[in-house]
Amino acid sequence: MDAGLLQLPPLRFLTCGSVDDGKSTLIGRLLHDSRLIPEDTLAALARDSRRHGTTGGEVDLALLVDGLEEERQQGITIDVAYRHFRTSQRGFVVADAPGHEQYTRNMATGASNSDLAVVLIDARKGVLPQTRRHAHICSLLGIRHVVAAVNKMDLAGFAQEAFERAAGDFLRFAAPLGFQTVVPVPISARFGDNVVARSANMRWHRGATLIEHLETAEVGPEGERPFRFPVQWVNRPDADFRGLSGTVASGRVAEGDRVVVAASGRAGLVSRIVTADGDLSAAAAGDAVTLVLEGDLDVARGDLLCPPDRRPAVADQFAARVLWMDEEPLLPGRQYLMRMGALWTPCSVTAIKHRIDVDTLDERPARSLDLNAIGFCNLSTARPVPFDPYAENRATGAFILVDRFTDRTAGAGTVAFPLRRAANIHREDALVDKAARVALTGQKPFILWFTGLSGSGKSTVAKLAERRLNRAGRLTYLLDGDNVRHGLNRDLGFTDADRVENIRRVGEVAKMFVDAGLVVLCAFISPFRAERRAVRELVEAGEFLEVFMDTPLAECMRRDPKGLYAKARAGAIPNFTGLDSPYEPPEAPEITLRTEGTAPEAQVEALLERLKALGHPI
Ligand code: ADX
Repeated sequence: MDAGLLQLPPLRFLTCGSVDDGKSTLIGRLLHDSRLIPEDTLAALARDSRRHGTTGGEVDLALLVDGLEEERQQGITIDVAYRHFRTSQRGFVVADAPGHEQYTRNMATGASNSDLAVVLIDARKGVLPQTRRHAHICSLLGIRHVVAAVNKMDLAGFAQEAFERAAGDFLRFAAPLGFQTVVPVPISARFGDNVVARSANMRWHRGATLIEHLETAEVGPEGERPFRFPVQWVNRPDADFRGLSGTVASGRVAEGDRVVVAASGRAGLVSRIVTADGDLSAAAAGDAVTLVLEGDLDVARGDLLCPPDRRPAVADQFAARVLWMDEEPLLPGRQYLMRMGALWTPCSVTAIKHRIDVDTLDERPARSLDLNAIGFCNLSTARPVPFDPYAENRATGAFILVDRFTDRTAGAGTVAFPLRRAANIHREDALVDKAARVALTGQKPFILWFTGLSGSGKSTVAKLAERRLNRAGRLTYLLDGDNVRHGLNRDLGFTDADRVENIRRVGEVAKMFVDAGLVVLCAFISPFRAERRAVRELVEAGEFLEVFMDTPLAECMRRDPKGLYAKARAGAIPNFTGLDSPYEPPEAPEITLRTEGTAPEAQVEALLERLKALGHPI
């Protein structure tokens, strides 16, 4: 029989663990001992080791892996690198994930592309907080197989007892994480003990060496997954050809198969599977193809094609585990952009059910998620999205969250399940709409949104402006921070998370009032750009006019109409805007009122002038 047929498919694995636990050295050792390093690289390595290495005179294998000069000088690895190597038994793709605290994001990337994790543990230090965090992220991202590589056994005198202590600690910690296998191996990456060659120093170890285990580890088969095809773009070079391009995420598809657009439920027949090298009769997970469907099915970028009998969930609310990777905390109610498959959509966390303490795995209450925190959350998207629970299909159950201002990937998540409420709440269309109401009142509805520091004059000017509008025959309503906080929002305080929720609710109310045909005046500090923008996007273009009460903090403190600045400075009010809580001034407000040195009445005149210029003559 051909021995090749018995070979397992290539193993995708990652190495992780705390800084200095020896990840790079281990990967270097694997590459070196499987004799894949060309001689000239070895010579260069010997040279480099003398310059930067941390091992004295010997060749520092870590340098082989830590590619960039800058990283070498810092002594840390800062990006995920995928390295391919093979032994006579099997091919490998190893993701080298950095251990440094702030690079959790890279570690998570590596984990989402791997089937097995080698968690390095320093034999002398045992399980560290970062070992726990990384193991937890591996579990979160669906890794089911772990090797606990207890490293630096040379520094622990090759003592069985040191190995058993570290391995035991890890096994106890990892028990609730749901791994299918956790295999401890005592190694010395630096000297090669039990990495590729069996160690003469640890004859007490009866188990496999690291490479023996990796060569034989069965991490799949992934099981038979249903066909999933996220449409990356609609390829329409001319009037005669229309194809759907993308990469098969899971399962397979063949010519003549019936497929369904998950979100709309519309069905079509696959008439061709086109690639740059000619047509295929079938395509499977990982293949980049262009599918041609019979008939003129309405399909757009971001849609997901699936078989008619094995459809994904389609929902605009679901529960998910979220790993937060941004310095700015995740705040419920704030809008982020979500990318799931090929689909981008605005999204927000509606509730953090709990945060997971990565040290103890306990569930803790949380109002926000800080850098590196993991939370179990409910999410809501602007439109229904198709997905599978991550546990069933890693290809279609993962997403990232992007900060709308910085474009940074701020979080990564895995879907747990759709929320039942998403399927049971429908939209009821009223018989009377905004146009009908406007026809009755004859007034153009809009929001006048006053933002500025406490004491900047928002309420004063908003009140005077409302009286002028009322006298001019406009139907108005004034929503004011202090008042709304006595009723609708009496459960909210002044943490960042509560302010986000305050503005979110007020935005929804203001939107309803606009729909009712009113001129809505809102006077809220509304310190964050993100939430002001979110309210702006709730209504139609031109219906949101931002009024920046441009009053310097010193002037607000001098006025101090409610005596709050004095109290805050005396330490009696924490999180006071402008003092120990931030205020982000608008970047492009429709109206700016510089209030210092002018009377409120004059400011109202200036406001009405600007309103006239903006198409709202009073
Ligand atoms: S916002 O930040 O969430 O938009 P909002 O406008 O509703 O605030 O409420 C601000 C009012 O609450 C202030 O005018 C002030 O009277 C009062 N207040 C009480 N505590 C604080 C605080 N810590 N920071 C700012 N305002 C406070």
